[in-house]
Amino acid sequence: MPIWGGRFEGGPSEEMLQFSESLGDDLQLYEEDIAGSMAHARMLSEIGLITPGQLTELRYGLIAIRDELLKGTWTPSLEHEDIHMAVETRLREKAGEKVAGKLHTARSRNDQVATDVRLWLKKALGELDEQLGRLLTALLDRVEADGRTLIPGFTHLQRGQPIWLGHHLLAYAWMLSRDRQRLADALSRVDQCPLGACAMAGSPHPIDRHRTAELLKFGGVMDNAMDAVAARDHLQEAAALCAIVMTHLSRMAEELVLWSTREFDLVRMDEAHATGSSIMPNKRNPDAAELVRGKAGRVHGDLQALLVMAKGLPLAYNRDLQEDKRALFDAMNTTTACVSITSGMWEMLTVNRERYDEELRGDFLLATELADYLVTRKVPFREAHEVSGALVRWCEDQGAGFEALDLNVLKNHHAAFEANALEWLDPVGAVERRTSHGGTAWCEVERQVALLRETV
Ligand code: ARG
Repeated sequence: MPIWGGRFEGGPSEEMLQFSESLGDDLQLYEEDIAGSMAHARMLSEIGLITPGQLTELRYGLIAIRDELLKGTWTPSLEHEDIHMAVETRLREKAGEKVAGKLHTARSRNDQVATDVRLWLKKALGELDEQLGRLLTALLDRVEADGRTLIPGFTHLQRGQPIWLGHHLLAYAWMLSRDRQRLADALSRVDQCPLGACAMAGSPHPIDRHRTAELLKFGGVMDNAMDAVAARDHLQEAAALCAIVMTHLSRMAEELVLWSTREFDLVRMDEAHATGSSIMPNKRNPDAAELVRGKAGRVHGDLQALLVMAKGLPLAYNRDLQEDKRALFDAMNTTTACVSITSGMWEMLTVNRERYDEELRGDFLLATELADYLVTRKVPFREAHEVSGALVRWCEDQGAGFEALDLNVLKNHHAAFEANALEWLDPVGAVERRTSHGGTAWCEVERQVALLRETV
C-alpha cells in the first residue's frame, strides 16, 4: 500500500500502477528532490518542529539515498509512483517510520514537485545559456575569420544585393543574443520558491518559507500558495524560449544545408558533422544540420503540449500536470544539445572565401547601385529605380550582364549618368558604401562584433 493509503482498503490495480507512475521521467529530479527535503528538514528543525537529532537522522538517510541513486545500487520500483514517494519510502527504511514520517510536515507533493522542477529548470537554463554563449562566440569568431567573404544577400531566395558573410552571420548572432536576454528574463520568474505552499492553502505551522528558499538558493518565494502549486507558465515560458531558439537554429541549419550543396558551394562541413550514404559512395551529407532542423519540430510540439495541457485545468493541482515534465525536459535537453552541435559546426566548417568574387561582377544584384548612383545625382529614387530596371532589361535583351554597359548606353537611359557611374558596379564597393547604422559595410560589422563580444 502506498504511503497515502490510509483511507484505502485495496489500492490501485497493477494496470493503474503502470499507467500512473512517473518515475521514468522524474528520476531525473532526484538530486533536486533530495535537496528540497534537506532544506525543508533544516527549516523544520530551526523552528522546533523536529529535534536536532531527528534532523541528523533525516540528513544521513537522504545523503545515503542520493548516493544509492547516483551509483544505481538502489532503484525505485513501480509502486513508488514518483520520485517524491520513492525517496520518502526509502527514507523510512533508513531512518525509521517515526523520524521519516516527520519530513512531510507542512509540505505536499504538489509543492515538492513544483520546487523540484524549478530547481531543475534553473540548472537547465544555466546550461542552455552557457551553450548559447558558446555559439555566439563561435559565430563572432567566424565573422572575424571569414566575415569579409563576398556573398549575395537574398530575399525570396533570389539574389538581392551583395553583402559580407559577416553581415549575414551577425543577423543570427543578434537573434541569439536576444534569446539570452529572454532566458535571463524567464529565469527571474523561475527563481521563486514554492516550497511550503503545501497542497494549495499553506500551513498552520510556523514554517519559515523564506528560510527554505534561502537554503535552496532561490531569489525569493512565491507569494500565493495556490499559484505556487498550480502555475505552469514558467514551464511554458522556458519551452517558448526553446521553441524560438530552435527556430533560429533551424533557419541557420537550413542555410548550412543549402550552402554546403554543390550548387551553393559556400561552406564545407567538417567530417565530424557529416555522414555518408550506404549506397552512394560520393555522398557527404550535412546530417547534423538536418537533425537540428528536424528537432525544431519536436520542441515546438513540446511547447504546444505544455500550453494545451494547462488550458482547461481548474485550480489548483491536477494530475494532468504530471505530464508536463516530459515535455519540459525534452524541450530543454533537445535545445541545449542542438545549440551545442551547432556551435561545433560553426567552429569546424570551412568557408570557400573566393566563391562569389568573380560571379558577382556584372550581376544584376548590383541594380540598386545604379539607382543609388542616380540619387546622388539628384534623381528621385522612384525614377532612378525605373531607369535601372530598364538597364537590366536592355542587358537581358543582349543576353549579357551589367558588363555590357558603357557610358553611352547609360546616357541613353538617363542624362544624369557620368563616367564614374560604372565604378558603382563593383560588388565590394557596393558593400562598403553601405555604412549606415547596421549596414553591411565592414566598419559596421566590426562595430557589432565589438558590441556582441561584450555580452559573452
Ligand atoms: N508525480 C506528481 C507530478 O509529477 C507529483 C505530484 C502528485 N500530487 C498529487 N496530488 N497526486 O505531478
